[in-house]
Amino acid sequence: MSVINLQLKGILLAGGAGSRLAPLTHATSKQLLPVFDKPMIYYPLATLMLAGIREVLIISTPHDLPAYQRLFGDGQQLGLTLQYASQPRPEGLAQAFLLGRSFVGTSHCALALGDNLFDGLSLRGQLLKAADRSTGATVFGYPVADPRQFGVVEFDETGRAFSIEEKPVNPRSRYAVPGLYFYDNQVLEIAARLKPSPRGELEITDVNRAYLERDQLHVEGLGQDITWLDAGTPERLLQASQFVCERERLRGKKIACLEEIAYRQAFIGAEQLECVARSYTNNYGQYLLNLLNDSSLPSNQLQSFEDLPKVRANFAA
Ligand code: G1P
Repeated sequence: MSVINLQLKGILLAGGAGSRLAPLTHATSKQLLPVFDKPMIYYPLATLMLAGIREVLIISTPHDLPAYQRLFGDGQQLGLTLQYASQPRPEGLAQAFLLGRSFVGTSHCALALGDNLFDGLSLRGQLLKAADRSTGATVFGYPVADPRQFGVVEFDETGRAFSIEEKPVNPRSRYAVPGLYFYDNQVLEIAARLKPSPRGELEITDVNRAYLERDQLHVEGLGQDITWLDAGTPERLLQASQFVCERERLRGKKIACLEEIAYRQAFIGAEQLECVARSYTNNYGQYLLNLLNDSSLPSNQLQSFEDLPKVRANFAA
């Protein structure tokens, strides 16, 4: 059975100046840069799809938006409905909810940052749990060595948040907040009332703090098997490529292969997968074709991504 939450829409942010990656980003949008064998934006889109989301708004700069439209079109080849919105100036992540207000309408909404990559056995389960929460907001907590570069959250074992701060000099916990957020419809009203921070941006952390003040901010600690990477600096971009390359080699299975996810989630059928596969003349297309012949994968049946425990064990060792 596929899991489709029609009440939950997704926003994918692919804007910003990409200044930390310049000169890589002088002529290219950051989220189109390669992370091993795919454009960076494939990874957060895959995350939204794994959460069962089929309606997505992609936000980028007026200059870069046409490139995303060329890449994905209306999304029907992936069984998605994609819309696009332009963010003329990078005035903060929370501006997504002002730009996406009519898109969100009366739905709940997940926001994914275009440079964030997630992978792991328990990921899908955690996403579906967040997607199913009927009120409030869900953010994730991921332990990192230097939390000062991120939003930082303090929370207890029940997932109740005590504090959330943006890039604190003295972090109160070692848990970074990855760029993936699930909100109920209150987010539209909260974002509309935000004031710009001292750096002139509408901060996503201020949205999360508003939920915290309403005692409606839930934190999911990401499972130990989950890897989270923010590919927003040269070192982390390289690390992300190395991670994907190594994982895919060991597993014999791709990370964030959108057509595969669409097929496994039953967003598209075998015929459509074959049609997309044949449009490639390389190993990527062959990989897709092999899915059709995979006898362990009954056509159009949702499969768990947890079917290669042995390989994973090798990787861990
Ligand atoms: C943004 C958010 C931060 C979050 C991070 C995750 O920071 O402001 O709270 O932890 O994304 O990638 P940025 O990378 O835009 O500086």
